[in-house]
Amino acid sequence: MTDVVHNKPYLLTPGPLTTSLSVKQAMLEDHGSWDKDFNQMTAWVCQQLLSIAHAGTDYSCVPMQGSGTFAVEAALGSLIGQQSTSLVLANGAYGQRICQILDYLKRPYLLIDTGDYLPVSAEQLSECLASNPEIEQVIVVHCETSSGILNPVPMVAALCQEFNKALIIDSMSGFGALDCNSQKLKYRALIASANKCLHGVPGFGFVIVQNTWLAKCAGNSHSLSLDLHAQWQYMEKTGQWRFTPPTHVLAACSQALREYQTLGGQAARLEWYQQNQRLLVNGLEDLGLQTLLPRHWQSPMITTFFAPQHPNWDFTTFYQLIKAQGYIIYPGKLTQVASFRVGSMGELTQQAMLGAVRAIKQALSQMEINPATCPQMAREPLWNQYAV
Ligand SMILES: Cc1ncc(COP(=O)(O)O)c(C=O)c1O
Repeated sequence: MTDVVHNKPYLLTPGPLTTSLSVKQAMLEDHGSWDKDFNQMTAWVCQQLLSIAHAGTDYSCVPMQGSGTFAVEAALGSLIGQQSTSLVLANGAYGQRICQILDYLKRPYLLIDTGDYLPVSAEQLSECLASNPEIEQVIVVHCETSSGILNPVPMVAALCQEFNKALIIDSMSGFGALDCNSQKLKYRALIASANKCLHGVPGFGFVIVQNTWLAKCAGNSHSLSLDLHAQWQYMEKTGQWRFTPPTHVLAACSQALREYQTLGGQAARLEWYQQNQRLLVNGLEDLGLQTLLPRHWQSPMITTFFAPQHPNWDFTTFYQLIKAQGYIIYPGKLTQVASFRVGSMGELTQQAMLGAVRAIKQALSQMEINPATCPQMAREPLWNQYAV
């Protein structure tokens, strides 16, 4: 892990994340978008992303300018035929955003919505696939960043193979840390972005997609600029992006990928996040705060905590008091109860995590809230209904 001394405020958020000084410095050089060196950098970055996915020559990595949502919209609009029915597995804001995109695109879909934070079960999914043969592809969010839940993607992938359905994974906040092995999960497409577990900066997303499928997708897209097939074709022919590329963002990503390899790749990054999250959760549980999710559903990337049930609770005050100490957290996204989210991804050392715990403790004390004496949320009965 690189030196992050210069990095305050630390972003303990779902992204953008704290980046290393050297990733920021990689953006000090300007690049011509037609330049051979820049095109080689694009090719190298795409090759690295494919190798993180254990993808062979049967897959391509197609980058797309914009934030993660642009890449999701480009993938769904380009890879799904206009009459083709999808099944969306939603349990939070990003699953719902997939439905919103499909609504905009007027693509038919079925939805299994398990609410704010419960995972889909194998029974629910297989029953739905068995009774709706028109479904051609299943779309799932890997880590649902709005709660931090790690969705059961290996189970979903196995059922897709059993029922012969294509699988599309939104692994925006998982790729780089979670196992996204294309040989095991056999997805048709996986979507992610530069600025989450890879520790680059925001500005482009990418789709890792099976060539045989992509080759059939000419003319599907509703949009000129979000046409993934056209971007792929143009890059194959010229080595260039179709429209102005995010040159500095790509340079930052290239540096971030070098640092990722030096750290030890996916397994090392996952372990790093797990250690950081353990420090965070242990520290905040010691204060009397409660996590939303049981450990076996919890991703190591982002953790939702219930807000203390106390009359002095006010997220904005809490946020400002923590920010004044150099740490930025996020509000919760649960629809039923007040919560807040703390991320453990990005270039965060263990010292930074312990510093965040201290900052949260101090903020609560300034607000005269002692979570240990507040009523606790009754969550176990709900969790226990679900076998893992
Ligand atoms: C799982 C997931 N999908 C999609 C997105 C959308 O990405 P963006 O906010 O960069 O458009 C996010 C963003 O956090 C995400 O976590």
